[in-house]
Amino acid sequence: MEATRNTLRRIGAIAAVGFAAASLLLPDGDALAQQGKVKIGLMLPYTGTYAALGTAITNGFKLAIDENGGKLGGRDIEYFTVDDESDPAKAPDNANKLIKRDQVDVLVGTVHSGVALAMSKVARDNNTLLIIPNAGADEITGPLCAANVFRTSFSNSQMGIAMGKVMAEQKKKTAVTLTWKYAAGDESVGGFKESFEAGGGKVIKELSLPFPQVEFQSYLTEIAALKPDVVYVFFAGGGAVKFVKDYAAAGLNKTIPLVGAGFLTDGTLEAQGEAAQGLLTTLHYGDGLNNPKNNAFRAAYMKAFKSEPDVYAVQGYDAAQLLIVGVNAVKGDMGKRAELVAAMGAAKLDSPRGSLALNRGHNPIHDIYLRKVEGKENKVIGIAVKNLTDPPRGCKL
Ligand code: PHB
Repeated sequence: MEATRNTLRRIGAIAAVGFAAASLLLPDGDALAQQGKVKIGLMLPYTGTYAALGTAITNGFKLAIDENGGKLGGRDIEYFTVDDESDPAKAPDNANKLIKRDQVDVLVGTVHSGVALAMSKVARDNNTLLIIPNAGADEITGPLCAANVFRTSFSNSQMGIAMGKVMAEQKKKTAVTLTWKYAAGDESVGGFKESFEAGGGKVIKELSLPFPQVEFQSYLTEIAALKPDVVYVFFAGGGAVKFVKDYAAAGLNKTIPLVGAGFLTDGTLEAQGEAAQGLLTTLHYGDGLNNPKNNAFRAAYMKAFKSEPDVYAVQGYDAAQLLIVGVNAVKGDMGKRAELVAAMGAAKLDSPRGSLALNRGHNPIHDIYLRKVEGKENKVIGIAVKNLTDPPRGCKL
């Protein structure tokens, strides 16, 4: 009896060793199945003035994944979603929940620069892969750059730099700026001021109000009194809708040209209607860009979500395209971090915006278009700056 038991134990042990050895030789599919699902943490605003932006990013991201067969590097996907409310104070807790509780493999977010600054700190501290599909805080791909942090959107100063150049070329001499007072607005205005003044213009007044306030009346009164040649603003989402309507309601659109970073009129034209007509903005995207990728993307997005995509949808789509490049390079094995991030850093994406590459700090190098609102379209009327890249100031990568 004892002998039989020992024999059985020995057979069991041999079988276990054999099984372990065999599993090392398992074909790819089975090995990947053993790794389980790729966990993706979406940390985005789903309420507040940026709610529509978070939804468009989510839709764009999921569209690219669906076009990839619903998988990443052959593995199934599980989404974990948090509404970050565009609130920087809640950002560390929200990011930590996704990383520590849900154990996500990759964090995707967010819209608001203040929230993204906090998220990128948590991602750096935990060495979690982070892809930013909107927030433009310059520092994240500058002095705070990191091997595990990528951005598929823009940096805040890029749109301002492009518009300042165009306005100086149009021989405007004086400008007033107005924005929400936080990193996005400050850096957007900073970019405008830099290139406008380099081109011979002068910013005569910089106005701001706290995010996300929308009581614009006193600022409009001040602008009317200052009578600059042009007004440059950064607003987005619900706040942008209200600002453009208030500017027109005050009659200022008839006397002082309003220009802005393209967020002013992206995803907002339906609500802004007549008030937005003729506005000039600069952005790395335009609805009517006639390239095969954009045409296919717009048709697929419309079919899937029954609404027109905007720049936020494009940035979400490209975040997933970038992740697909990385995860494919390691055949689904996200533990191979060095190979994965090297592939992402070197990626050349076919984006609906045109071709997209990343600089050393992992920030987009892309064309910035000059657009004009015509009806419900941000019509591309030129390229303000070709292949704009940031100097990765202070980035040690
Ligand atoms: C930002 O906070 O970085 C931000 C928010 C909304 C935009 C663009 C930038 O549309």
